[in-house]
Amino acid sequence: MNDLPSVRAQANRAFDFAGVQVRRLIEAHPDYFPMYTLGGRWKHGGEAWTNWCEGFLGGQMWLLYRHTRDPYWRERAEHYSRLVEHRKTDRNVHDLGFLFWSTWKRWFDLEGDPAVNAVVVEAGRTLSLRFKENGQYLRSFVGDDSLFIDIMMNVGIIFYAAQQTGDPELLRRATRHSLTSRRYLVRGDGSTSHEGLFDLTTGEFLKQTTHQGWRDDSSWARGLTWALYGFGTVYSFTHDERFVQTAEACADFYIERTPAHGVPPNDWEESNPRLPYESSAAAIAASGLFNLAKLTHNPAKAMAYRAYAERILMTLCSSEFLAIDTPGWEGVLKHGMYHQRKGLGVDESVMWGEYFFMEALSKALGEE
Ligand code: GLY
Repeated sequence: MNDLPSVRAQANRAFDFAGVQVRRLIEAHPDYFPMYTLGGRWKHGGEAWTNWCEGFLGGQMWLLYRHTRDPYWRERAEHYSRLVEHRKTDRNVHDLGFLFWSTWKRWFDLEGDPAVNAVVVEAGRTLSLRFKENGQYLRSFVGDDSLFIDIMMNVGIIFYAAQQTGDPELLRRATRHSLTSRRYLVRGDGSTSHEGLFDLTTGEFLKQTTHQGWRDDSSWARGLTWALYGFGTVYSFTHDERFVQTAEACADFYIERTPAHGVPPNDWEESNPRLPYESSAAAIAASGLFNLAKLTHNPAKAMAYRAYAERILMTLCSSEFLAIDTPGWEGVLKHGMYHQRKGLGVDESVMWGEYFFMEALSKALGEE
């Protein structure tokens, strides 16, 4: 177990720094939704590939408001949440959990307004429309035949909509998607594949592939952390033991294969990786491990998961990762990776890394 006062002190320092960086960003570039930095700067014309990150900035503001109770953050958080409201009917992406769980769901959790909750539920309903009966999965943004591991981090909003409305069809689609992902994207050793492809006529599973990993049969780190966190969330809705077992298998793979500091490379299978770190995967893992520590039935694992999450945070709070000692760097967390093959956001700050780092810091501070 790490020294708790030290974890708290580091977490508070990092959280305060995040508040400074987010404020600088939104005052320099109002109503702008960056995805990744270029040379440490948020504003540039780099390609997005897909639009999935617009909730993370508002999400950081809700976290800052909860931490500080400063009315500035309350006002900005609502403003940036309202800027994404129209996405509740967006049929083009599989990312409505990312967009609405971080913003409107946080808003609802803090204030309980039913009109705010209705937006979260509508986003969940929209996401459920991606369900393919042939194959039994929610299709990814790249095509009808494609299932992404990332969607495990979004399917929670459909379970939530099912719980709120009592609609059994929403529950069926979310459960079937989770079981299909478990069966075809999670391997026996707890590693995960980024993508599965299906025959559209028969629904038959064809093969595992990747976009952001090293090879089709390798283990893209961030994808595994989406699974670690996402299967835990699905367990919290369903209490189906298969899902907590899967989350634990992913967590155990992460811990076994990652260096002692807790930050993996972009893909564990890449021999001599060009870059040693994918810090956003570490931030997601830390946050997911804090959750899993509360979900597992094994007390020894619960302690180990929490201790490992704190270890990751201590590493991310060091000046190698926290940009606090890097003059001119506009992000919070350095050494993130978006899409190595496309050359997007390579060794940069990335918006989801910032958000999940702050979420994990909140959990270390007992705020969530
Ligand atoms: N599109 C989700 C990710 O890059 O992890």
